[in-house]
Amino acid sequence: MEVVIRPDALSAARLAARLVADALRAKPRLVLGLATGRTMERVYAELARLHTDEGLDFSLCRTFNLDEYVGLSPTDPHSYRAYMNAHLFDRVNIDKRNTHVPNGMAADLPAECHAYEAAIKGCGGIDLQLLGIGSDGHIGFNEPLSALRSRTREIALAPSTLAQNAALFGGDTGRVPRRALTMGVGTIIEASRILMLVTGESKAAVLAKAVEGPITSMISASALQFHAQCRVIVDEEAAQLLEGKDHYRWIFANEPEWVPYQGA
Ligand code: F6R
Repeated sequence: MEVVIRPDALSAARLAARLVADALRAKPRLVLGLATGRTMERVYAELARLHTDEGLDFSLCRTFNLDEYVGLSPTDPHSYRAYMNAHLFDRVNIDKRNTHVPNGMAADLPAECHAYEAAIKGCGGIDLQLLGIGSDGHIGFNEPLSALRSRTREIALAPSTLAQNAALFGGDTGRVPRRALTMGVGTIIEASRILMLVTGESKAAVLAKAVEGPITSMISASALQFHAQCRVIVDEEAAQLLEGKDHYRWIFANEPEWVPYQGA
């Protein structure tokens, strides 16, 4: 795992977007795993800008989103399909037939989850997975005690997640759907590369647990410590409780792989 600390949320998001853009330029048929949430909004805004200003080409890219609420139709403005259309898909030249979001309205949810896993495998697996982290340590919607080998499935959302996401439902926790479909922790860590973006003071404590604490199913993101190619981009606010800050800064300043990104 590598941790990169940027001065603020905007520069952290821009670095994440640049890493995605470089992966896409290197492999136009990239299979990209996507996350939703407020942290990702800046990343998608920057990717849309790179498409408009620099011609970043999404035409051959395939995408798989991590999760979707159960019971929301893709046209519901609160659905993650609607989020992805608004923040990225409608703003770049992606072929929507190549974009996948779990169908939270499927009549047979276990079959939908099984088909989602098969679709990922059918594309050869995910090349690069973008992640945020929940205040309870979730990645995707893998709430505490999700098995580290869990696969795509239906899950009940934790009260802390309902509270975290209430802002997107007019501040009313009661309007946040109680259940979701999510890729499992095991599904996520099969991606070839992982890029997690964490910003803001409110994520400082959970970030420290995920990156520097023990690997435990109580903090799903701690499973990323198993991954051979996982980068965690954070801002100073989120980094404030990390014990290894000096070491992470030294790596970013000295490892050749980061030289092209040091000014970003
Ligand atoms: C959503 C997802 C979640 C979010 C996490 C952080 O698709 O995968 O794990 O990344 O809840 O959300 P924000 O960025 O809103 O704090």
